[in-house]
Amino acid sequence: MIIIKSQEALSKMRASARILKDTFRLLEENVKAGITTEELDRLAYEYITRSGGRPSFLNYNGYPASICASVDEEVVHGIPSKRRLEGGQIVGIDIGVFFEGFHTDAARTFAVGKISPEKQKLIDVTRQCFFEGLAAVKEGARLGDVGYRIQRYAENNGFSVVRDLVGHGIGVSMHEDPNVPNFGTLGHGIRLKEGMTLAIEPMINAGSYHVKWLGDGWTVVTCDGKPSAHYENTVVVTKEGAEILTLRREEKADG
Ligand code: MF3
Ligand code: CO
Repeated sequence: MIIIKSQEALSKMRASARILKDTFRLLEENVKAGITTEELDRLAYEYITRSGGRPSFLNYNGYPASICASVDEEVVHGIPSKRRLEGGQIVGIDIGVFFEGFHTDAARTFAVGKISPEKQKLIDVTRQCFFEGLAAVKEGARLGDVGYRIQRYAENNGFSVVRDLVGHGIGVSMHEDPNVPNFGTLGHGIRLKEGMTLAIEPMINAGSYHVKWLGDGWTVVTCDGKPSAHYENTVVVTKEGAEILTLRREEKADG
């Protein structure tokens, strides 16, 4: 069942997203060679709870941390640990915030120090995949158009789209209907309606799209060991297009 959000619900989601955006600002300043992903997790936990929110991921199906931190060939759901980030790596950070009854969810992939041109292209294309998909979003559009556009942009750039994980509706619960695949067929899928809230989250691999789960039950890695990037925002479907709840003003300039 898809939950359409009222104006009141949307203002609470904007407040939830505000905390999430500020948490990202803090983490981005701290993503550097030498920091551990556990330290980043701690910063996020402290910031979210001091703001009156709760980290959506903590204890979700037993998940043991507040953020996911996925390095290089880790696609998503990397568990923060004592591992120190090293120059040349890319790290996908995924954060969920629950505030006043509503969840928001966003992810970014950051460079640690100087990275290879191929990793930079992967980060840039993954971000642009989100905006390509978003361009299809508006009242009455088909969900398949969103996935189609994401897939086309990734593949035209020589990358592949993860099939085993998808985006999702979000709000009252972290995962609501509908599923939002990053692949699809034009003219297929449900029709979007004003007030739907979606987490659109391309997961793009430099090599093949095949992924597997590590023994910790969470970390998803590429089967070929090549890097993967993740970019996610929580958005609201509107009559004319979409409102991106989790995008900071300073991120829009280069968008
Ligand atoms: N952004 C991820 C998702 O949409 C967050 C889930 S991580 C978990 O599934 F730990 F909470 F599961
Ligand atoms: Co998500």
